[in-house]
Amino acid sequence: ENGKLTIDPAFTVAPVNRRIFGSFVEHMGRCVYGGIFEPGHPTADADGLRGDVLDLVRELGVTAVRYPGGNFVSGYRWEDGVGPRDQRPTRLDPAWRTIETNAFGLNEFMTWARKAGIEPVMAVNLGTRGLAEAIELLEYANHPGGTELSDRRVAHGAGEPHDIRMWCLGNEMDGPWQLGHTTAEEYGRLAKEVAGGMRQYDADLELVACGSSGRSMPTFGAWEATVLEHTYDVVDFVSAHAYYELEGDDVASFLASSVDMDLFIREVVATADHVGAKLSSPKRINISFDEWNVWYLKKFQQEGSPEEWTVAPRLSEDAYTALDAVVVGSLLITLLKHSDRVTAACQAQLVNTIGSIRCEPGGPAWRQSIFHPFALTARFAQGEVLDPRVVAPTIVTAKHGDVSVLDAVATHDRENGRVAVFVVNRHPSESVAFSTDLRRFGDVELAESAVLGGEDLYAVNTMEDPDRVVPTTFDSAKVVGGALEAELPPASWSMFVLQ
Ligand code: AHR
Repeated sequence: ENGKLTIDPAFTVAPVNRRIFGSFVEHMGRCVYGGIFEPGHPTADADGLRGDVLDLVRELGVTAVRYPGGNFVSGYRWEDGVGPRDQRPTRLDPAWRTIETNAFGLNEFMTWARKAGIEPVMAVNLGTRGLAEAIELLEYANHPGGTELSDRRVAHGAGEPHDIRMWCLGNEMDGPWQLGHTTAEEYGRLAKEVAGGMRQYDADLELVACGSSGRSMPTFGAWEATVLEHTYDVVDFVSAHAYYELEGDDVASFLASSVDMDLFIREVVATADHVGAKLSSPKRINISFDEWNVWYLKKFQQEGSPEEWTVAPRLSEDAYTALDAVVVGSLLITLLKHSDRVTAACQAQLVNTIGSIRCEPGGPAWRQSIFHPFALTARFAQGEVLDPRVVAPTIVTAKHGDVSVLDAVATHDRENGRVAVFVVNRHPSESVAFSTDLRRFGDVELAESAVLGGEDLYAVNTMEDPDRVVPTTFDSAKVVGGALEAELPPASWSMFVLQ
């Protein structure tokens, strides 16, 4: 079978927005405690931050990190996590049935963010709290000094203001599981009030209204429309969340997960633009896809909440397969393709819980399979996203109907002439002959390549064998007569860098 990608340097979608290579650190399981923060670990620094995890976070190429939740934020009191540690209260976190010691909070997160070289994205609690607590947190975090709240931060050791620019107005308020779950009408009104209040302090903040926690939510579409009717003038983004998993042995549907993500994005854009049209507004609301990943959620739900309340239990620490990595690579292709409207995104999550990075207490840290497509895409997708035209055979899937076996995107860095092509073969059992004409880019050669998947799709990386699933160079790919040609293995993700 043959598949072809057509790209042209003149036809661009948008610049690659670095914020789409974001991640997510929630107080959930061992993401914070025993993940990024483990005082006493051999690699921990004076702040208790694990050096081996920090190194991997930098290697992953993460640009922005959303914090502190997730469902956790809807019951969180930010004040509990600042000030002298021995005076911080221990509380119950009902979202994950966990004991929260509050040993790690805002200022520790900002120290970690500086060391990791990432932009913080902060969520405020609109589940059990509202405007007053949001603006107090904003003043504590961002005001330079001279007021009670900002001086409190200085007294807590953070002399410089944190200057957090991007803020999420609550989390998944459409979900019945959410503490403070409410209607689109009520949430929209509250989000408008909080956004307006926060803007009185700083008009230039970038604010995210909660969209749907999934495309299959019964309120999807109507939720976005109602929330944006209230908030259109005061927010910049609407959020989208999506998790995918292999169900049974339906590999074909799983490999085509990005078809669902693609539709989700198109539908949210259409809904947001419809509200904009009704309001005669020239403004465009973009998407913050601030939770996305492969997550074995059904298994997690079947296991149920732990009976006992404990500190940092192991939650959703699944070992990701090579197949999962192929799907993660293809979800990144979809996000890139929509760079004109998806201008921020966070893979959920970063460490241990649903994480790209795994680590053991007192022990090593390692890269999960899904680490690799993320790291390579974040590193090589530079410059502008090119409008990709893919012609390829289709395959029938149980969940998504007929889908193209290939999906692809390319980026072009005009400064150095480099072109990066990312392509996924979604066929579970057949290879595809892939080609793309490169003559519009001058005399380029294959400079780098990588391929993941193909065989041994259920292999995983473990503590004992941390490099079982790693990308290999695509040795048989070549540039012939100005065209890139490669035989893409079944169920594979590939990257080609040309210069
Ligand atoms: O990332 C795990 C959880 O998934 C988040 O806390 C929540 O927002 C979503 O349902």
